[in-house]
Amino acid sequence: MAGLFDSYTLKDITLRNRIMVAPMCQYMAQNGVPNDWHSVHYASLARGGSGLVVVEATAVSPEGRITPGCLGLWNDEQAAAFAPIVESIRKAGAVPGIQIAHAGRKASANVPWEGDDHIPENDPRSWQTIAPSPVAFGANLPRVPHEMTLDDIARVKADFVKAAERARDAGFQWLMLHFAHGYLAQSFFSAHSNQRTDQYGGSADNRARFLIETLEAVKTVWPDNLPLSARFGVIEFDGRDEETFRDSISLLQKLRASGLDFLDVSIGFSTPEAKIPWGPAFMGPWARRVGEETGLPVSTSWYISEGRQADALIRTGGLEMVSIGRPLLANPHWPYAAARAVHNKEAPALLPKSYGWWLARYQ
Ligand SMILES: Cc1cc2nc3c(=O)[nH]c(=O)nc-3n(C[C@H](O)[C@H](O)[C@H](O)COP(=O)(O)O)c2cc1C
Repeated sequence: MAGLFDSYTLKDITLRNRIMVAPMCQYMAQNGVPNDWHSVHYASLARGGSGLVVVEATAVSPEGRITPGCLGLWNDEQAAAFAPIVESIRKAGAVPGIQIAHAGRKASANVPWEGDDHIPENDPRSWQTIAPSPVAFGANLPRVPHEMTLDDIARVKADFVKAAERARDAGFQWLMLHFAHGYLAQSFFSAHSNQRTDQYGGSADNRARFLIETLEAVKTVWPDNLPLSARFGVIEFDGRDEETFRDSISLLQKLRASGLDFLDVSIGFSTPEAKIPWGPAFMGPWARRVGEETGLPVSTSWYISEGRQADALIRTGGLEMVSIGRPLLANPHWPYAAARAVHNKEAPALLPKSYGWWLARYQ
């Protein structure tokens, strides 16, 4: 039975352990181009011992950014700036992954520490948001988006394809489609945000169409030997969880048949009214069910903070990987700390020799 520190192979990629750095926006880019901040941040996460480093939500088009500080992959300058970051992740022994995204009606927002709300429409930094229907998220994000035309839908799918090509050419080896958290793809799936009456709205099958078509389009350019994954919110915690979960399973079965290799199970975040039962590893049982009912290998995140807890989720919780976010911001060497908790003797080998050699003699 595999544990947290056993390797994991999917297609031609082998991860040194089952720890994924969850994608985490840094809001530090200008014009979507990665810079010194991202170079240091991602290299240090890779050096910390994680198996897979997934670069934060990276927009497929300028209007797909959450904030003006978000990364992008809509031009060659951005792709060229990613290449050395990819190389530094690989040199540190981790596999470089990236999440490509479109923020939909949650776009054009201030960075979290400047309000986390929509930039006012009369502010020159703001831009027009688009979504399946002209329905605002509400709460801190009250702007009503433009309803996407069929041409808009075709354009955004093409933007995903071009971003996937650039990610491939920059050397990324693991692609994650952002189909979660109330952003554009999730907002097509959720009845909270999709009120269309054409082939992209109405029934669960119609609401699934944008996600399936996007995956299928990306698959035409993403290499067959590399993992094609997604993050998707399987429930909303809005009182209709079993019904939403059934629709999610049906979507995920179709995505799997269309070439999805791996799923990071998350939350929909499609309504500010959600009542989310935050607690240690609370998404674990949902992720396990997704794995059992779809046959997809799965990971999940949310409040997995201890090494032994993470190891147990892999050994007996039905997960192939854990996706760790804030604990890695607190300590990029979290895998080392987790390894010490789980298998004391092997811990120093996780870190580069410049650190690990000393620590092996220090404990
Ligand atoms: C600063 C920050 C930025 C985040 N950005 C993203 C993102 O770009 N894409 C995404 O899917 N989730 C994002 N999330 C969610 C994390 O990937 C993760 O799922 C969440 O933090 C829960 O895991 P944790 O309890 O280990 O932090 C972000 C979370 C944080 C704290």
